[in-house]
Amino acid sequence: MKKTFMYSLGVVLYALLALSWISDRDNIQKRSRILAGDSSSSKKISAGKLISPDLFGIFFEDLSYAADGGLYAELIQNRSFEYNPADRKDWNPFTAWEYTTQGNGYGTISVQTAAPLSVNNLHYVVLNVEEEGIEGVGLTNSGFDGIVVRAGEQYNFSVFVRQLSGESMPIQVKLQSKKGTVYGEAAFSTLSKDWKKYTATIIAAQSDDSARLVIVAKAKGKIALDVVSLFPQKTFKNRTNGLRADIAQAIADLKPKFMRFPGGCLVHGDGLGNIYRWKNTIGPVEQRTEQRNIWNYHQSVGLGYYEYFQFCEDIGAKPVPVLAAAISCQNSGRTRGTGQRALPMNEMEAYIQDVLDLIEYANGPVTSTWGAKRAKAGHPKPFNLQYLGVGNEDKITPEFKDRFKLIYDAVRVKYPEITLVGTVGPAPSGEDYEQGWKLADQLAIPVVDEHYYEKPEWFLRNNQRYDTYDRSKSKVYIGEYASRGNTLFNALAEAVYMTALERNGDVVKMASYAPLIARQNHASWNPNLIYFSNTAIAPTVNYYVQQLFSTNQGDRYYSNIVSFSDGEGVRDSTLAASFVRDSKTGDLILKLVNAGRTASQAKVNLAGFGSINPKASRAILTGTPETGNTFVNPGHVIPQTSGFVVGKSFLYDVPPYSLTVIRIKTNDDPKASH
Ligand code: AHR
Repeated sequence: MKKTFMYSLGVVLYALLALSWISDRDNIQKRSRILAGDSSSSKKISAGKLISPDLFGIFFEDLSYAADGGLYAELIQNRSFEYNPADRKDWNPFTAWEYTTQGNGYGTISVQTAAPLSVNNLHYVVLNVEEEGIEGVGLTNSGFDGIVVRAGEQYNFSVFVRQLSGESMPIQVKLQSKKGTVYGEAAFSTLSKDWKKYTATIIAAQSDDSARLVIVAKAKGKIALDVVSLFPQKTFKNRTNGLRADIAQAIADLKPKFMRFPGGCLVHGDGLGNIYRWKNTIGPVEQRTEQRNIWNYHQSVGLGYYEYFQFCEDIGAKPVPVLAAAISCQNSGRTRGTGQRALPMNEMEAYIQDVLDLIEYANGPVTSTWGAKRAKAGHPKPFNLQYLGVGNEDKITPEFKDRFKLIYDAVRVKYPEITLVGTVGPAPSGEDYEQGWKLADQLAIPVVDEHYYEKPEWFLRNNQRYDTYDRSKSKVYIGEYASRGNTLFNALAEAVYMTALERNGDVVKMASYAPLIARQNHASWNPNLIYFSNTAIAPTVNYYVQQLFSTNQGDRYYSNIVSFSDGEGVRDSTLAASFVRDSKTGDLILKLVNAGRTASQAKVNLAGFGSINPKASRAILTGTPETGNTFVNPGHVIPQTSGFVVGKSFLYDVPPYSLTVIRIKTNDDPKASH
């Protein structure tokens, strides 16, 4: 009895001792949170951990008018008269167009499909001029909520016309105001009974944010018109069929290491017939197959696979195209999770061939079938495709698994050099996540795509998510994430998380915020990284966080550099730091995030590094947590940069609600590893 009592007392004492030791340890850790290890060491530090050189990139989806009416610089809406009620109930081939007659002319317009310009582009307009009057009879396009023209700028107009009856027709094209003031015009005469392309350059004499394009015929007769197009000559990098320069530049300024495209749900589509087929999006624009957009509008696919690859090259981003896994979106038919459809097995061979052909299109020699098409489009050199996504947050059903495996095996056999990216569902946990990872383990998929849209607190709470990921398994691409808001606090929660992505850059290979861009008043999804209107760009605070990280990436991560001594245990998840080195420049890059309301102090110890230049640069993003950027005040919360003096060891006062990036030049050989 006595023995048992003594034994129990011993157990209790031991437990109390252990508890007090644990609580002591916690208190010490809380008092001096060593975020990147022990900062007291002055010995030469280890080589650092190799992290992904492709960590921060972008994800472009044709969502919220990101392509047509957005990045794609075409100014004419519904240029091919292909809009229809399947896109949106009240749409038809005349959406954004109206019948126009000035003076006392009259005639009719109708939509026809016989002998089209291309079988892929069936609808065209027949203009029947019965009496041309003084000004002619024709059509007016109002663009995407108006056409923006700038005084002195040149615009490339083109149209396909077929003469149906009468003699050669004089055609006049005008850029004019809503009320009819003409800013610039061009004229030509039709010649051909077959479809023929006519082009003209129009110079705008005045600026207008809401101009119209008017095209009128000035003689009796009948003509067919299709693909009426107007581009500013100044597109991004002056490319024809190009991109809106200001939006493209804002994206380029992120210096993304990669670009995932052309979408998420858009890719696997609203039902099998709506799967995004890359082959429909290449070649001459008038021969591409337009289609309904799952986001309730229309895709001209003028911004198609060729243009996506070209854009990636232009901004130095590795292309990461995503193809459907021969499975439609589980939310197809506007269901919530049960609308997944699978392509019949007897169609899989052809589908897989399409997948393989994409790789040939991107990388094949000009002598190959698909490489030749790329060359014909103007790019004989390969696009150097390295990554290919298959599937987008699909429901991991038996149908999905079977089809994914077939595609995966075929790609591995024919193109073992391609890194295939699989998918593990739409959430950070749950059935699809579990099943997706199980499949990834079974097949040893090189990279899997995780998605999550969560509250900022989730990002703060979960910043250790990848610390325990098994390094021997598939690597992770966080293809879509966002903290459901565009305030500074949201952006800082994301910044805290991004320091963890750097820390785990050995297992997290890539990450991209989503969605990237959205047109003002047409957003099908919020929040986004960049908002735009016809005339302006409003990058969010989240954009500047992404930019600070992506323009300050490294390829080695170092522990044992930073510690915080704020004496507040409760603040663990709002304070974060990371420290990387960029081998190309030899620069050391420190990121400090404080998503909390109390200032802190960081101790930085660079003793393990060789000679450093004390004149560093600093960018700091800070403000009131609930504010953000708007069209009215787009520069409300933006990074401020300045010089900053550092030493081998220094203290840094970390302001509340801030992200600081300090970039330090070293006098070392950039190639030397520490
Ligand atoms: O980014 C918006 C959408 O979110 C994507 O299309 C889809 O993959 C996800 O559900």
